[in-house]
Amino acid sequence: MEELKRTKVKELLYSNPGADVLAKGWVRTKRGNKQVKFIALNDGSTVNNIQIVVNTELFDDELIAKITTGASIGVKGTLVESEGDQQAVEIQAKEIELYGECDPMKYPIQKKNTSLEYLRTVAHMRLRTNTFGAILRIRHNMAFAIHKFFNDKGFVYLNTPLITESDAEGAGDMFQVTTLDLANVPMHKDKVDFGKDFFGKKTSLTVSGQLEGELGATAVGEIYTFGPTFRAENSNTPRHLAEFWMIEPEMAFYDNYDNMALAEEFVKYLVKYALDNCMDDLKFLNDKYDDGLIERLRSVIGIPFQVVTYTEGIKILEDAIQNGTQFEYPVHWGTDLQSEHERYLVEKHFGKPVILIDFPKDIKAFYMKQNEDGKTVRGMDILFPKIGEIIGGSEREASLEKLEERIDELGMSRKNLEWYIDTRRFGSVPHSGFGLGFERLLLFVTGMSNIRDVIPFPRTPKNAEF
Ligand code: 4AD
Ligand code: MG
Repeated sequence: MEELKRTKVKELLYSNPGADVLAKGWVRTKRGNKQVKFIALNDGSTVNNIQIVVNTELFDDELIAKITTGASIGVKGTLVESEGDQQAVEIQAKEIELYGECDPMKYPIQKKNTSLEYLRTVAHMRLRTNTFGAILRIRHNMAFAIHKFFNDKGFVYLNTPLITESDAEGAGDMFQVTTLDLANVPMHKDKVDFGKDFFGKKTSLTVSGQLEGELGATAVGEIYTFGPTFRAENSNTPRHLAEFWMIEPEMAFYDNYDNMALAEEFVKYLVKYALDNCMDDLKFLNDKYDDGLIERLRSVIGIPFQVVTYTEGIKILEDAIQNGTQFEYPVHWGTDLQSEHERYLVEKHFGKPVILIDFPKDIKAFYMKQNEDGKTVRGMDILFPKIGEIIGGSEREASLEKLEERIDELGMSRKNLEWYIDTRRFGSVPHSGFGLGFERLLLFVTGMSNIRDVIPFPRTPKNAEF
């Protein structure tokens, strides 16, 4: 069998009939009658299967019996024009090798139960489904497109540390990293003696690579990070993970408007890349889960996003409440918007993605550039249909005095941030950046509604399997 080189299913489906070919993969289904069996074979190269036609007279009954859903096989045969109208070509089997059996009584991926909720309970096997194949391929394509977008613009990919002493967002929901024996913690004057810890200080997993990103941007101009990010916020929602991936570009000499323009261009580029390169998978997801998906993707790349100040946004929401709209959470100037509010603005009021700017300084991080009004900062959040916030960013405070003042005001430690403050001490420049939540982007692009379904191995409160 091996003298013939294996061809991937994706390529076979677009090949001309006539030649002998070798396909390898996992059996999706087997049907047929005594004389002839039809096997749908998938190898993960595409969501589509190749049909194998098996003349039962040519093969052992025992072998055919073992070709069940989930089993892995290699098939040598002739690629012929298909008689069925489901596919252009199929393989007329000449030789079949069974690599691995798959007991139908025990295999957890069964046709009868493929709900996403069920699949989460067998997450180690769910990657074998068409749904997760499609999601993994789209995820890969988006990762590739992200690097391509920034590379084409001359940005430098900067790797920022995962273990850090800094709480960039000041939100405090960090996972501690320690080698101290938790059953016998060394103490010094009633406090934990972190001097005895591995790094000689208290360290955590990063919540953002931004602050280190600013070191890079103020050195080589334009950088981006793309890596895992950890947040110990106890939010069991369909949009939060404890471990997610974030893309954080940071640009010297960009003001917040340049920042917004780049962010809009970036997400449109990614959505268009998906439409141009992942159509089979998108069609599958569109038909199976969300028949508005492809339409929504197309609509987003075709229109300018709506720029709205936070203050205007609050006014719109207050008017909506006046007119009878009910929200679970209260809303007034000074509150952080909840996802229901964000979605109202995007889906009900404007009918397109919204870029919200100029937030009250008290609901945003210390590093955002302060506006002249003394009340607001030059932040920008991009809000998307079905999801809410997908991007958060800002122009950064470039003034040494203002930055230090704000750090003190918030009761943060200047000492721990000396390295960061140095960027403002030495050759400070106006600069901006943003963070795109990779899984939030994937929620949008795949149409999935739970973030646990767009990452292969989700980490959420009380769940860190594998
Ligand atoms: O708005 P955030 O907290 O912004 C930052 O971390 C800034 N340092 C970014 C920057 O300016 N460089 O997070 C950015 C994005 C959010 O808009 C959201 O898409 C995603 O990260 N995100 C999460 N995604 C999944 N699970 C979570 N728990 C998330 N928290 C934030
Ligand atoms: Mg945010």
